[in-house]
Amino acid sequence: MEIQMWREILEPYILAVEEMKIKFNHVIKAYREAGMYSPIEQVTGRVKKISSILEKAQKKHIKFEEIENRLEDIAGIRIICQFVEDIYKVAELIRRRCDMKVLSEKDYIKNQKESGYRSYHMIVEYRVETLNGTKCIHAEIQIRTLAMNFWATIEHSLQYKYKHNMPSNLTNRLHAAAEAIIILDQEMSSVRNEIMDAQNSFNIKANMVADILISIQNLYKVANKREVVKIQDEFFKVYESEDLEALERFHKELDIIAEGYRAQSLQ
Ligand code: GTP
Ligand code: MG
Repeated sequence: MEIQMWREILEPYILAVEEMKIKFNHVIKAYREAGMYSPIEQVTGRVKKISSILEKAQKKHIKFEEIENRLEDIAGIRIICQFVEDIYKVAELIRRRCDMKVLSEKDYIKNQKESGYRSYHMIVEYRVETLNGTKCIHAEIQIRTLAMNFWATIEHSLQYKYKHNMPSNLTNRLHAAAEAIIILDQEMSSVRNEIMDAQNSFNIKANMVADILISIQNLYKVANKREVVKIQDEFFKVYESEDLEALERFHKELDIIAEGYRAQSLQ
């Protein structure tokens, strides 16, 4: 098959992966900017290599013309979460989107694979606009925890190394490691609320500090410089004390001061 032709076939998939990565990264950003915990930790994506597409088509006896219809993972998105609970939140979030239509779902967390593999898979239909018009493509979204991803990455490399001849002692070790990953995920879930609280207060603090710095910067334009320096020194003191409530009080007081100047400038 000519390279030029592959480029044409793959172009909408490349575009879809880029767009979907941007969209899921935006979800992370929106949660964090709202001072909320994001159920998505990170997103990656890839378009399957031509050699892997051909290899898989051959293995599954798929004719060239059927590749696009029958290979559902030419475009692949991987969403990594911190906790198992987050995976189901992300799946729901995807079901509710109107720019992705869920065609099928596989829960390899409740139904672990023989190998020990765990992940939540969704096949979605996604529309892209190309020079040749609108094109609907299929994409595979894999949702898993950091721990599940760790296991799958190692197992995948070993599978690649040994092809179908993995020594049985290695298979046994991978099974044992998969069990350990289940326990690790369960342990992490049991402290989830505490971890989420810590991350929330980190985000709240970061947003508040950004707000305060903008207010101080704006005050420089309207207020007496010496007074602003005093306010800034006061801010550093409160910031260093690491007292979130004191920081909140300072934030409110600063708002009142800024409001006062705004009122004055309107007179
Ligand atoms: P494929 O022919 O691989 O597409 O199988 P399938 O159509 O039955 O889909 P399935 O949902 O089982 O697997 C899709 C993808 O999940 C694979 O391409 C891998 O990325 C991943 N996956 C599935 N099983 C395993 C596994 O045992 N180990 C690892 N590391 N990844 C797996
Ligand atoms: Mg598949």
